[in-house]
Amino acid sequence: MLVDSYGRKVTNLRVSLTQRCNLACVYCHAEGELSPSREISADQIAEILHTAGRLGIRRVKFTGGEPLLRSDVCEIVASVPSGIESSMTTNGILLEGLAGDLKRAGLSRVNVSLDTLDPDRYRQITGKDRLPDVLAGIQAALHENLTPVKLNMVLLKGINEDEVDRFLQFIRERDHIILQLIELLEFNDCTLHADLGSVEQDLRKHSERISTRRMQHRRKYCVNGAEVEVVRPLHNTEFCAYCNRLRVTSDGKLKPCLLRADNHVDISEKKGKELEEIFFEAVRKRSPYFQ
Ligand code: 5AD
Repeated sequence: MLVDSYGRKVTNLRVSLTQRCNLACVYCHAEGELSPSREISADQIAEILHTAGRLGIRRVKFTGGEPLLRSDVCEIVASVPSGIESSMTTNGILLEGLAGDLKRAGLSRVNVSLDTLDPDRYRQITGKDRLPDVLAGIQAALHENLTPVKLNMVLLKGINEDEVDRFLQFIRERDHIILQLIELLEFNDCTLHADLGSVEQDLRKHSERISTRRMQHRRKYCVNGAEVEVVRPLHNTEFCAYCNRLRVTSDGKLKPCLLRADNHVDISEKKGKELEEIFFEAVRKRSPYFQ
């Protein structure tokens, strides 16, 4: 079992498969990676996942960049050992063609990044005209039971703050789909940070049910049949106190905290006992960013 010096059990692994992406979102934090030099191989990822499984990791989320740009993505998903549930965060552009293969490879569900349902705003945020592909990807994911599908919507000041109701409507019209409202972390010097506080108050007011997830103590609201999760990491000591994840960067380093870049531990080419030791070392380096 991996437990850090603050008593936090580490049961989730977030593995970045590549830093390549087919979008150029204005606010992207690139999972906190600086300048990756190479991509870890599918074999190395399989080794990491087997070691992680032995150490008590129960869930893995594949991220990017855009993970579906890797031609061996299904092979990677298929290498997840039994006992670990796998999911993926994707921008959805290539999802329509891959949803069936991902499901058969053992993926349990997907998060699809989608901040707007308006084509002009979509281009403004991502630099590309791919909204129809994303919508087709979401449909395919629902069809293949990669569910619940979670829509990751980052709230952006002056861009999509007025779209929350439209998103709620979108998910009410479909089964097995959840909205995840995310507070913007400003890594680049963009001035798009929007206050989630008032949106959350509104959700609270109209909720028939409110629950708290174990992961990072995220609040979940049920508003007129629509499920909404709110992710507010900034200055949130509770968020950090309940953090149970460790990251693997696309160039093969263990990353103890999204918001820190000074405590990575290299795991490339490592195996077996040596790799286990490095997991323990990375977990020892964990400390809550907001405390
Ligand atoms: N702040 C908050 N969320 C972000 N994401 C990417 N960059 C940022 C940021 N600066 C989210 C995307 C994607 C997930 C992997 O991370 O919405 O869904």
